[in-house]
Amino acid sequence: MLGWERADVIARAAEDVPPAAAALLEAAIEQRARRRPLQHLTGHQAFWRHDFVVTPDVLIPRPETELLVEKALELIRDRPAPVVVDVGTGSGCIALSLAAERPDAQVHATELSPAALLVARGNAARLRVDARVTFHEGDLLEPVMALAGAVDLVVSNPPYVSAEEWVTLEPEVRLHDPRMALVPPEGVPALYGRLVTRAAATVRPGGFVLVEIGARDRGQAARAMAGAGLAAIETRRDLQGIPRIVGGRRPTG
Ligand SMILES: C[S@@+](CC[C@H](N)C(=O)[O-])C[C@H]1O[C@@H](n2cnc3c(N)ncnc32)[C@H](O)[C@@H]1O
Repeated sequence: MLGWERADVIARAAEDVPPAAAALLEAAIEQRARRRPLQHLTGHQAFWRHDFVVTPDVLIPRPETELLVEKALELIRDRPAPVVVDVGTGSGCIALSLAAERPDAQVHATELSPAALLVARGNAARLRVDARVTFHEGDLLEPVMALAGAVDLVVSNPPYVSAEEWVTLEPEVRLHDPRMALVPPEGVPALYGRLVTRAAATVRPGGFVLVEIGARDRGQAARAMAGAGLAAIETRRDLQGIPRIVGGRRPTG
């Protein structure tokens, strides 16, 4: 709006805001009062160590998803040159954060929405990790079937809101995050089942599957993992004690 850096805001605090910028700010305040998310006004969201461009075509990255990045890094810590697949990449926040932390990793990111993929590709270029991240348009893991057996980790923050829950969400989320980023048309249990079954068949023996879950979905995600033959199934809770992540490992035997 002003083209100022953060430091300018302090250093130039005594200056009058130019009228054109003041008008823009007032318009933005009015939009915010109408429940448009701040991130759609600024076009940015911080996630992990980076700044991501966001548009109404992608889910605004949530702080709790950083837990998924943290756990993913822990799982691949001892794997040289790991191959990672992020399913439903949205803005690219998970895939690109992992690629930036692990310069030896090869990351693949899938996404059903072509508009979201454009945003993710732009973010990859901005973070200068585009040479090591391959984007694929398509359903879940279908676009990366050729990698089956060669993947160290499949990570995903899938849509996990039921249609009934969606109508109760705050306007910022219900009216502005893409519905397809939140509500799986087939229903949450079916989506987890499909995702986890395909992920278990994609990772190499000893490889990991890690998914973010809704607060009440731990049981069904864990059952889907067990049903897909994964072992060492583990839940991680966030700082509020809410189960956030379920992970499992493909047995080596
Ligand atoms: C909850 S959002 C997560 C976005 C991003 N990974 C994040 O954590 O902020 C789910 C993403 O999955 C995508 N998606 C939904 N159904 C999909 C499917 N069947 N196959 C691939 N991507 C899908 C949505 O378009 C959306 O970008």
